[in-house]
Amino acid sequence: MPQKRYLYAHQFAMEAKRIYLAAGCFWGAEHFLRKLPGIKSTRVGFANGSTPSPSYREVYTDTTGYAETVEVVYDPEKMPLKWLVEAYFAIIDPLSLNRQGEDEGTRYRTGIFYEDEADLAAIDEAYSREQDFQGQALRVEKEPLRNFYPAEEEHQDYLIKHADGYCHVDLKAFRYAELLKELESMVEGVGDEVGVMANTAALIHESMRFFWTGFYRVADEGHLALGPFQGPVACYSIGFGKGVCGTSWKRMASVVVEDVEQFPGHIACSSASRSEIVVPLFDRSGKVRAVLDIDSDRLATFDDIDRRMLEIAMQIVAREIY
Ligand code: SME
Repeated sequence: MPQKRYLYAHQFAMEAKRIYLAAGCFWGAEHFLRKLPGIKSTRVGFANGSTPSPSYREVYTDTTGYAETVEVVYDPEKMPLKWLVEAYFAIIDPLSLNRQGEDEGTRYRTGIFYEDEADLAAIDEAYSREQDFQGQALRVEKEPLRNFYPAEEEHQDYLIKHADGYCHVDLKAFRYAELLKELESMVEGVGDEVGVMANTAALIHESMRFFWTGFYRVADEGHLALGPFQGPVACYSIGFGKGVCGTSWKRMASVVVEDVEQFPGHIACSSASRSEIVVPLFDRSGKVRAVLDIDSDRLATFDDIDRRMLEIAMQIVAREIY
């Protein structure tokens, strides 16, 4: 394994920061957020309501104005706020007003509540990106934190205390959160592109049990060349704009394909591949340098959770190697 090098900002410890995220029932939201890389601590509680020191029972009446909220203390060096907000979007339906999963009421509204005005730039960046993707206004509040009261002890770490407790968050999101944490510590300080790609492909492939997981690197202006991967043998070269990989490169955006047979120009490296996701890796100047390609032998394997979480994963990787 290449030597780790500790040259960058990682060595200058920055102060921990706090953000308050309302994502529906706070049990599952906390369980997800606490697993992400760079999270120092979490607490569940009630934010932006109008009565003093509310109890869970009072908030449950839906008359106090509070939203079930997770206080997240994080290390912005390991987990920049933009990525944290992108991860948050993976566990909510941002178009739903006062309803997430089975839970309905203003206490289950979604919101990003900040303490520091300076955080607004990063929040806005992730927010507008999500809004552009959705093509309509999000129903997620974006406001200064007015107040926050921690909930009773029994609600803290609820899904650790009750492993089979109610949870509206897709279990896949928890696996991805754990994967991101492992990935972040695995690649930190390793500058070698091939090594990082090889271990990243292995980590994703092993933890998510996909059919084919690997990288294609931009070789010249017209071609992607096969990079490190896990799975059956694959095609060596893919043209700009060709197949799913070349399309993702050209569009400079992730491409999710539910049924490869319906994707015009899909390149079948293996006939067993049924659905696919491709996520680009950008360098600091915004150029696509490579793509992550994942194939599944089942139809419609990948959704917005895969896309959002793999996009964060590829930002973690790109930050280390480009
Ligand atoms: N199906 C991809 C080609 C790569 S293999 O699936 C590994 C595409 O259409 O770009």
